[in-house]
Amino acid sequence: MPTVRTAISDMQTQRIGEVSRIAIGDPDVIPLWFGEPDLDTPDFIRQAAIDAMQSGQTRYVNKRGIPELRQAILDYTQAQFGIELDGERITVTGSGMTAIMIATETLVNNGDNVVMISPIWPNIFYCTQTMGGESRHVRLDLTETGWRLDLDKLFDACDERTKAIFIASPSNPTGWLMEPEQQQAVLDFCRQRGIWIIADEVYHRIVYDRAVAPSFLSIAEPDDALYVVHSMSKAWCMTGWRCGWLVHPADLGDKMGDLSGINNTGSTSFVQHAAAVALRDGEDFVAMGVERCRRARDIVHQRLGGHDRVTLAAPKAAFYAFPKIDGLKDDLAFAKQLVREHRVGLAPGSAFGPDNEGFLRLCFAKSEAQLSEAMDRIEAGLNTL
Ligand SMILES: Cc1ncc(COP(=O)(O)O)c(C=O)c1O
Repeated sequence: MPTVRTAISDMQTQRIGEVSRIAIGDPDVIPLWFGEPDLDTPDFIRQAAIDAMQSGQTRYVNKRGIPELRQAILDYTQAQFGIELDGERITVTGSGMTAIMIATETLVNNGDNVVMISPIWPNIFYCTQTMGGESRHVRLDLTETGWRLDLDKLFDACDERTKAIFIASPSNPTGWLMEPEQQQAVLDFCRQRGIWIIADEVYHRIVYDRAVAPSFLSIAEPDDALYVVHSMSKAWCMTGWRCGWLVHPADLGDKMGDLSGINNTGSTSFVQHAAAVALRDGEDFVAMGVERCRRARDIVHQRLGGHDRVTLAAPKAAFYAFPKIDGLKDDLAFAKQLVREHRVGLAPGSAFGPDNEGFLRLCFAKSEAQLSEAMDRIEAGLNTL
């Protein structure tokens, strides 16, 4: 049989999928393995999609997004960050993931590298690898006071083949976020060295010590080599809808349209109408969701963080805990054991880049009752180690 590209054949199997496949859809298993809230998309967003469908919004639309959503994104950016964006800097994409893929497609040639702050969600480094590039991981340090980034380590990892630094802040899986001073230092470094920044800010609303996470948009100039990735998935509970957007330099607008076309011809038309309504009318829902996550985070921190085998930094943002299990060697086998024997689904830490063996990731955007039960089951599993 003719072969596929080595970048594809060499890709590691998805370890989160390897665990979830054991029992996906099994009602007896509490699923904390994927990054999504257990809440349904709220009715007012669903109704907007139904109305759009009923009125015939079911055809191809502008590959960079329908005018209503493009305007809603501009208004939202103004309301959340106080930033007046040039509309030419926005392209609506078929998801946050598509935005990351498009950004990567514009930058990475065979043999280039992208330096990424790690632990990191695997789909992100698969994008670089798919393009024939190297994903270089600079790991956050787990300290007494939480996850910390050593900027010297980040800068030392860059060389003449570095096309971009990828920063997911707030982070999946650690809940770390980058403060404005570090953002400024990264921006200064990248300007000096001619390196792009890809800032993945899909969790910007899910933050516990302030209203919104710091954005690179607040410190960058419009013509900086900066991409900012956004998604409707998380704060509005729209994971299955597939809609996001990319902020980019204005002069790349036409290329963004071409790439959006090549990837999936943009986000689904009626979904875009619903996304515009979500951005415009969704503030109460977002606030409710964040409060729910805050309570959930406290439960996880108290229960799991209190276990004597566990080291857990309190997440500042996003809805994940990334505990280190002392003495655990094979996190993949243990995650499988948790599913089979204790009926709770977690993701193995080793899925999130190098040096994460012995960690597990769980998504805590769940009801308090379900989480409490999940904590009992995880504890039972830990007690067998
Ligand atoms: C850090 C990060 N970026 C991007 C995404 C992509 O989100 P979506 O493709 O659902 O918009 C996710 C989803 O889990 C994520 O965790």
